[in-house]
Amino acid sequence: MEMADVVRQLENSSIIVAGAAGFLAKIFVEKLLRVQPNMKRLYLLLRAEDKKLAAQRFNSEIISKNLFRVLKEECGPNFNTLIAQKVTVVPGDITCVNLGVEDLDLLEEMWKEVDVVVNVAATTNFDERYDVSLSINTMGAMRVLNFAKRSYVSGERKGLILENPYRVGDTLNGTSGLDIENEKRIIDEKLKEFKAENATEKDVKLAMKNLGIQRARKFGWPNTYVFTKAMGEMLLGNLKANFPIVIVRPTIVTSTYKEPFPGWVEGLRTINSFVVGYAQGKLSFLLGDPNTITDLIPGDMVVNAMVAAIVTHMNKSNEEEEIIIYQVGSSASNPISYSSIQDFGQRYFMKHPWIDGEGKAVKVGKIPVLKTMEIFHGYMALRYLLPLKGLEILNAAFCQYFGGLYHNLCRKINYAMRMIELYEPYLFFKGIYDDMNTERLRQPIREEKGAENMLYFDPKSINWEDYFMNIHLPGVVKYVFG
Ligand SMILES: NC(=O)c1ccc[n+]([C@@H]2O[C@H](COP(=O)([O-])OP(=O)(O)OC[C@H]3O[C@@H](n4cnc5c(N)ncnc54)[C@H](OP(=O)(O)O)[C@@H]3O)[C@@H](O)[C@H]2O)c1
Repeated sequence: MEMADVVRQLENSSIIVAGAAGFLAKIFVEKLLRVQPNMKRLYLLLRAEDKKLAAQRFNSEIISKNLFRVLKEECGPNFNTLIAQKVTVVPGDITCVNLGVEDLDLLEEMWKEVDVVVNVAATTNFDERYDVSLSINTMGAMRVLNFAKRSYVSGERKGLILENPYRVGDTLNGTSGLDIENEKRIIDEKLKEFKAENATEKDVKLAMKNLGIQRARKFGWPNTYVFTKAMGEMLLGNLKANFPIVIVRPTIVTSTYKEPFPGWVEGLRTINSFVVGYAQGKLSFLLGDPNTITDLIPGDMVVNAMVAAIVTHMNKSNEEEEIIIYQVGSSASNPISYSSIQDFGQRYFMKHPWIDGEGKAVKVGKIPVLKTMEIFHGYMALRYLLPLKGLEILNAAFCQYFGGLYHNLCRKINYAMRMIELYEPYLFFKGIYDDMNTERLRQPIREEKGAENMLYFDPKSINWEDYFMNIHLPGVVKYVFG
C-alpha cells in the first residue's frame, strides 16, 4: 500500500493505546502497524497482573486473531521482528493512579516518549454496575487525561444531535443537579449500607445495576453506559485547560468494511446479539419502529477517523478552547432504517440458514415486528403472562415439578424485559448524529492523492444491502457464531 503523506506524519511517533485488547483497539493497532511500520513505539496497555500475563493476553487475544492475518502475510518472516521492535505490552488499569503501571522505568519512558494517548478502555456493557461503570468510563477517562498531561457520549434525544462537548452539569432532559462528586457519594453511601446489612454480592450487583439505570434515567440518559461515558466527557472538558483533547464518538460499530479484509468483527454486541438470536431461531419477535434510523458504522471507518483525527491534531499547539468532537456515524449522510436491517437479516438467513452444533440447518422465517411499546406489552401479556396464570395454579398443586419451570419462565421474562428496557430508546430513536466536524476531517484527505484509499471513512460510499448481505452477516456467522 502506498503511504499517504497524511500517515507519514506518524513516523517516529509513539502512541499509548489504553484498553488494547478491545474490539476497536485491535483494528486500530493492526492499521497503525500496517500503514506506518516506521512508528517509534506502540505502548499497549491492557489489564493483567504482570508483564508475563499481559504478554500472554497480547498473543492470545490480539495478534493471534484472524484480523492480523493480512499484516502477517505482508510482513512474512519479519512479523515477529516488527512486533518486538514496535510494541511494548504494558499491564495496567485505567482506574488506578498512573494507570496502574508499576514499573517506574517504563512509566518514565512512557512519559518521556509518548506523543499521543488513545483511550479505548471502557466498559461497554449497557447493564453494568453503576460503581464499576463510573470508575472506568468516568473516573478512568480522567486518569488517562492526568497520565497524558504528565507527559505533556448520546442519549434520548430527537432531531439533529450536534458534535458539541458535554459540560459539567449538562443533562439531556433539563433536570438540574448533576454533580459527579455527588454521584460518587451516592454510590459510596449505598455500598456502605450494603456492607452494614451484610448484603450478598448478588444483591449488591443487582442493586448497583439498578442504581445506574435510575441515575441515568433521572438525567435523561437511556442507560448507565452512555451516562457514565458522558460524565467522562464532562470531566475531560473541565480538566482540559490548554491540553489538546479530541473525542471520537462512533455510533454502533459493525464489522470491517474493507480493511484489513471485509467482515471482521468480534463479540456479541448490539445488533450482533439480535442477528445471532434470530439466526439461531431464538427470537420470536422484533421490537421497534421500522422507520427508526439505526446509526451504524464499520469498525475500520471508525479507526480511520481516529487516525485522521490524530494526524490532524497532533502537531497543533492547542488553539482550540474546547474539546473537539468527531461523531462518526452514518445517519446524517447515508441513513439505514431498522426495517431494512430486518429485511436483510431475514433474507440472508432464509437463504443461508445457520448450521447448529448437530449439523442441522436452523430454519427461520418472518417474525412479527412489534411497532410500539403498547403492542409489545399486549404481546407479552398474551404470550407469557396469561399462560403463566394457569401455571401458577398448577404450580400450587405440583410445586416440586412446576416450581422450577415457573421460576425459569419468570427469569426468562425478567431477562427479556430488562433487555427491552435497555434497548428501547435505541429501537424507537428519532435522532440524527450530525457529522460536520468529521466531514471537515475528511476534506483534506479527499484532496490528498492516495490518502482517501488509505483513510476512507465516508459512510456515503457504503451500499448497505451489499454490506449486510456480503460482508457483515457472513462476518458475524464466521467470527461471532464461532
Ligand atoms: N463498539 C461499539 O459499538 C462502540 C460504539 C460507540 C462507542 N464505542 C466506544 O469505543 C471504545 C472501544 O469500544 P470497544 O467496542 O472496542 O469496546 P470493548 O471491545 O468492550 O473493549 C474495551 C476494552 O477496555 C478494556 N478495559 C475496561 N476497563 C479497563 C480498565 N479499567 N483498564 C484498562 N482497560 C480496561 C477492556 O479490557 P478487558 O479486555 O480486560 O476486559 C476491553 O479490552 C469505548 O470507549 C466505547 O465506549 C464503541
